[in-house]
Amino acid sequence: MRLKILVTAGDGIGPEVTNEAVTVLKEVANLGGHTIDLNAKRIGGVAIVHDGTPLPAYTLAAALDSDAVFLGAVGGNEFNSLPPDKRPEAGLLQIRAALGGFANLRPAFAFKELAVNSPLRPEIVEGADILFVRELLGGLYFGKPREWNRKTGEAWNTMRYTRDEVVRVTRIAFQLAQKRRKKLTSVDKANVLEVSQLWRATVNEVAAEFPDVTVEHQYVDAMSMHLMNQPRNYDVVLTENLFGDILSDESAVITGSLGMLPSATIGGKVNLYEPVHGSAPDIAGKGLANPLGAILTGALILRHSGGLEAEAAAIEAGVRKVLEQGFRTPDLARGNAAGFTVLSTKEMGAKVRETVKSQLVNA
Ligand code: NAD
Ligand code: IPM
Ligand code: MN
Repeated sequence: MRLKILVTAGDGIGPEVTNEAVTVLKEVANLGGHTIDLNAKRIGGVAIVHDGTPLPAYTLAAALDSDAVFLGAVGGNEFNSLPPDKRPEAGLLQIRAALGGFANLRPAFAFKELAVNSPLRPEIVEGADILFVRELLGGLYFGKPREWNRKTGEAWNTMRYTRDEVVRVTRIAFQLAQKRRKKLTSVDKANVLEVSQLWRATVNEVAAEFPDVTVEHQYVDAMSMHLMNQPRNYDVVLTENLFGDILSDESAVITGSLGMLPSATIGGKVNLYEPVHGSAPDIAGKGLANPLGAILTGALILRHSGGLEAEAAAIEAGVRKVLEQGFRTPDLARGNAAGFTVLSTKEMGAKVRETVKSQLVNA
């Protein structure tokens, strides 16, 4: 098998975590006799500085010519005063739209080894295993009109969905639920928003195609509380773009850190893979970033774009083993280093590599 991957590492900790993840992914694939062709291009703040635009045409062309795109993170404080369409984040939204993936899968898996590191009690988080399916190409992020009218002192964005946009992401969520614990929770704000009423009615319509899956609906405000109280109650959680953005970061509390969360975006021309976290300017360049979310994102590339289930599972098992052995990045140790060995970004990457390789060679 040969897989052509475009790496757009971006800004801040993006390059730091992506380097570790790409090295793990390549070595694991090579051990299985597969070839990974890597190509790197600029996106985000680094592209604004070098090319004057957050998504240069050469990056987009390379992305469309790949089997998968692996994105690190974009954004930096120096760009914060720019209007939305000029910021690093615009490059990310443009590449998402151009690649066309509308179903953003954000698994939040609570490794039992990390239960002691969660701010929630271990008996609450242990066993939690949620798959968020976040609609990625609609809602407030892309709806028009949108404007900040400085003269009148008004600003507006538009939350818009079509029935077809809801149908296509809902089908994917149900199909994934069928392969898991057969429960789907759809999250909306149907007590206030027409868009959410359309969302809920459409989810109920699609549900008729999947009688083996149990469906429930939750309002987003209550859901943000239920997630912290009873994370084990949830299997697949389907929601619109902005709610999914917020709830997936909240789920970092269940997993121990935002730095643990991977994502895969499917359904378009080319799948896009990115850890859930951002460029973390507060820790960038210091070797403090947790690369495990990016490394687990690498596993998703092998699974969803390479069809290499064994290799993907080997990376996930390697991550678990490293955690079992007590290795932590600082975000996971939470200042409580007792009993843990605290590693830098590079050391953690090397530890996972070594562990996955020895597991595969001895298998
Ligand atoms: P963030 O996700 O970058 O960071 C939030 C907090 O989590 C910070 O304290 C950070 O240090 C910590 N954190 C994040 N990832 C970590 C990791 N791997 N290891 C250890 N700690 C980690 O969110 P933010 O600070 O709100 O945003 C910073 C910039 O990133 C902004 O410009 C934002 O727009 C951008 N952003 C980009 C993406 C993306 O490219 N996919 C995602 C989210 C935010
Ligand atoms: C994410 C990020 C992005 C989003 C931003 C940076 C555009 O927060 O991937 O979660 O809101 O989708
Ligand atoms: Mn986000």
